[in-house]
Amino acid sequence: MIIRTHSRRDFLVGAAKAATLGISGTTGLSGVSAFATPQARTVAASGNDGLIPYGAAVRSSALASNAAYRAAIVANCQLIVPEGEMKWPDIHPARGQYRFEKADALVDFARQNNIEVRGHTLAWYGGMPEWTEAIGSRAEAQQELVDHIETVVSRYRGAIPSWDVVNEPLVDWPTDAAWLRPSIWTKQLGPDYLPIALRAAALADPDAQLVLNEYDVEYEGPRFAARRKALVRLLRALRERDVPLHAVGLQAHLLAGRTIDRDGLQAMLAEIKALKLDVLVTELDVIDYELPGEVSERDAMVAAMAAQFLGAVCDVVRPKAILTWGLSDRYTWVPTYFKRRDGMPNRPLPLDADFKRKPLFDVVEQYRRTAAVPAGAL
Ligand code: XIL
Repeated sequence: MIIRTHSRRDFLVGAAKAATLGISGTTGLSGVSAFATPQARTVAASGNDGLIPYGAAVRSSALASNAAYRAAIVANCQLIVPEGEMKWPDIHPARGQYRFEKADALVDFARQNNIEVRGHTLAWYGGMPEWTEAIGSRAEAQQELVDHIETVVSRYRGAIPSWDVVNEPLVDWPTDAAWLRPSIWTKQLGPDYLPIALRAAALADPDAQLVLNEYDVEYEGPRFAARRKALVRLLRALRERDVPLHAVGLQAHLLAGRTIDRDGLQAMLAEIKALKLDVLVTELDVIDYELPGEVSERDAMVAAMAAQFLGAVCDVVRPKAILTWGLSDRYTWVPTYFKRRDGMPNRPLPLDADFKRKPLFDVVEQYRRTAAVPAGAL
C-alpha cells in the first residue's frame, strides 16, 4: 500500500514552490518518477501500423475480475485511460495523503502488455473529494492544486506521455461574461487556475502531452455554437500567454438524436489547428437511451452517429488518438445517467457485453485509417 503523507514541512515547501508558479512562473520542479523511462511527447508510439492509435477507458475492478475483458483490452487497445483511478477521490482521498495502488496497477498492466496510458484528470470541477471543500484561500488552493499535479504527474513521468490536465472548463452555456464552470479552483483562483495547472504539469513532466478536454462542442444549436466560441477563445488566451498546452481533447459523448454541426465543428477545428494544437478524441461513446430498442437497428444508428462525428473531424485534422469511454457495453458509465425507459441495457461502445464486435467497432477502425490531412484541406 503506497500512502504518501505530507508533513507540515512539505506543506511549507510546497507553498513556497506554488508561490513561484503563478501566471509567469518558470521555476523548475524536481520530481522522482517511479516509472522513469524517457518517452517522446506522443501517444501510442508503440502502435507502428500507421493507424491512428485506438484506446479505451478501463476499470481496474473489471480488469482484476474478468479475464475476457482483460483479453479484449489487450487485443484491441494501444492506449488505456483509467475511468476513475487517477481522479482526486481515488488518488488523493485526504489532505496530504496520496494512494497510488490502483493507478500503479493499471500502469503496470499497461506496461506488461505494451499499451500506453493516458492520465485523467488533474483539474476538474467534478468528482472532487470532500476534503477539498475546506480549501479556503487563494494561496491554499494554489498550493493544493500544484502539489497534486506535481506529485501525480512526476510519479508517472516516462510512463504516462499524455495527460488530461484540464477537464470540462466551460459552463454549459457560456456567454462573454460567464464562461468558466464554477469549481473550488475558480472560486479561489479564478481563470488563473488554468495556467497554474498547465504550468505545474509542464514542470513536472516537460515531455508530456498536455491536453485540455471538453464536451458538447459538436452539435447544431446556439448552446453548442457558444461552447465552440468560448473554447476557441480560451485556447487563444492560453496561447497568447504562452501557457504550455499541446492538444484539445474532444470527449465526444455523442447523444443520439442530436445533429452534428459539421460546418461549426470543422470551423472550430480549423481554429484549433491554426493555434498549432493537436486534437484527440478522448471519450467517444454514443448515448442510445432514446433510440429504438431493436438491437441491430440501434447498433446501426449508434455507428452512424459516430461515423458522422469522426467523418467531420477526420476531414480536417488527423486526431492523435481515438479513445472510447470503455470498450465493452458490459462496463459503461452511460446507464448511470442515461438509463433506457424500456429497461434494455445501453449499447454505447464498440464491443457488446460479450466482447463481440459491433458496427461501431468497424467505424472506429475505418477512421483510424485517416491519413495525414493534406495542407490547405480547409
Ligand atoms: C465518469 C465515469 O465514467 C464514471 O464512472 C464516474 O462515476 C463519473 O465520471 N466526462 C469525463 C469523465 O471526463 O471523467 C466522466 O467519467 C464521464 C464524462
